[in-house]
Order: sequence, then structure tokens, then C-alpha cells
Amino acid sequence: MTGSFEEIIARDQRIEPRDEMPDGYRATMIRQISQHAHSEIIGMQPEGTWITRAPSLRRKAILLAKVQDEAGHGLYLYSAAETLGVDREDLTERLISGKQKYSSIFNYPALTFADVGVIGWLVDGAAICNQVPLCRSSYGPYARAMIRICKEESFHQRQGYELLMTMMRGTDGQRRMVRDATDRWWWPSLMMFGPPDAESPNTAQSLAWRVKRHTNDELRQRFVDLAVPQAEALGVTLPDPVLRWNEERGRYDFGEVDWTEFKQVIAGNGPCNAQRIAQRRAAHEDGAWVREAAEAYAAKEAVA
Ligand SMILES: [Fe+2]
Ligand SMILES: [Fe+2]
Repeated sequence: MTGSFEEIIARDQRIEPRDEMPDGYRATMIRQISQHAHSEIIGMQPEGTWITRAPSLRRKAILLAKVQDEAGHGLYLYSAAETLGVDREDLTERLISGKQKYSSIFNYPALTFADVGVIGWLVDGAAICNQVPLCRSSYGPYARAMIRICKEESFHQRQGYELLMTMMRGTDGQRRMVRDATDRWWWPSLMMFGPPDAESPNTAQSLAWRVKRHTNDELRQRFVDLAVPQAEALGVTLPDPVLRWNEERGRYDFGEVDWTEFKQVIAGNGPCNAQRIAQRRAAHEDGAWVREAAEAYAAKEAVA
């Protein structure tokens, strides 16, 4: 009664796990959702290193809650991917063997506590720009997971910005830390939207399937337009000499991302790629006994 795949897409309704779907659509969704899940899980690492070194109990509690949210996002998304017939164990294997990618942004280090603020402001901010349209993804379980995730991401963005505001009202040293972290994270944040439209061959198909709602360049522009006034309110200068308001377009013009760096990081040669995967692999191995215990318990329950 819901109609064929094409009819559901044309009516802008959701595809559900039991609906028929083209193999290409299924494969695209598995790739998109699992890479997103991996990004949430790996994304816990840069900031996670600051939990034990947070400057106050309040900051520690906020950061702990934030990093824990990211774990939750990863778990929702692995569950959404599993509705397409893949297994989480298998997806984890693809991540730690390097067969599947995660967002390039998490291969940069968080060097000072100001990075926690800048990651919230820019990285979670860029994630929100990317993810709000995904609440209308044509794949139902993904779209529904994104609604909850986006609510939590906006808390992440605000806690980051509030931390930076506090630091900017502090000492000269704190202001320097904020400016330095902004300089380091600005360009990698713009890379989060992916390659330029001209080099994004899958965009047209993804738009037609409504698993993507805007092109990479559109979303990048939207993010820049939001971030510039926020930087001004904060009192930091974004590290782009070309950045300026374009009266005619009613948008900001901005410089070209260093795509060579982007490709290098994607290819595994970013500052922290090896460390991130090694840490994830170690955590997975350390957790083996928990999985075994859970399986033994489930088997016992099934017998009872
Ligand atoms: Fe997240
Ligand atoms: Fe987040």
C-alpha cells in the first residue's frame, strides 16, 4: 500500500527497513550511516583526553556528558545501520581495519582546554549544519535517529561557545589559547562538508534519493555565514584573509580550503590517524570479556 520505492521517494515519504529498495540505495545508506557512527565514536577521543584534566568540577561534568552523548549517537547509528542487514561487529571490524572511513576532523589533536570549546563551537556547529537536513533523510531509521542527535548536538555547540565566552573574559593567556585553537580548527571544520561539488560525483544520486538535501558547497556556505557573526561576538578573527561580506550575494566570500591537506588526512596521513585507530582497537579488545559475558547471559536467559 505504501507503493514502490520510486513512489515513496517521489512523495517524499520514508523508506522503512522492510520496504524494497535498490541495492545501490541500501549500500549507500549502509556506508553513510556506518561512517557517521564511526565518526561519533572516534569523535570521543580528541576531547576525551581532557576529561581528567578539566579545570573545574563543572567543566568536567559538562565534558563528560558531552562525550557520553557522542557514544550514544554512535550506538543509535549502529542500530540504524543494522536495520539494513549489516552487523555491528562487522562494522567495527571495518573501522579498526581501516576499510571504512570516519570524519577527517577527528584526526586533529586537541592541544589545550580551549580546543574543547572550539570543537563544540565549530566542529559540533558544522555537524549541526550537516545533520539538520538529515532529519529528513529518506531512510526512516536514520532520519529518526538524527532528530534526537541534533537536539544533543545543539547542547554541544552551546557548551563550547559558552566556554569560549568565559575564556575570552579571562586572562590574556586564555584569550591567546582561544585564538590559537580557532586558528587550528577553522579550516578542518570547513573540510567537514566534504569535497567541492565539482569533485563530489555521488551528490546527484544522493540528492535524487533524498539521502542528501543540499550539496557540500551549499552547506559549507551556510556554516560560514553562521560562524562569522559568532566569531565577531566572541572577539576572534577567523584565519582567512579573503573572508568578507559580499553585498551582492548577501553571503560571505571565503578562501579556498587546502584540499591537498584534506586528501592527505583522508588517506590516513593526518596528525592522529594511527593513534585514533590504535586506541579504538585497544578499547574493542579490552571490551571482549564484556561482550562474551553479555552473550553467555543472553544464552542462559534463552534457555530459562
Ligand atoms: Fe554527535
Ligand atoms: Fe556532538
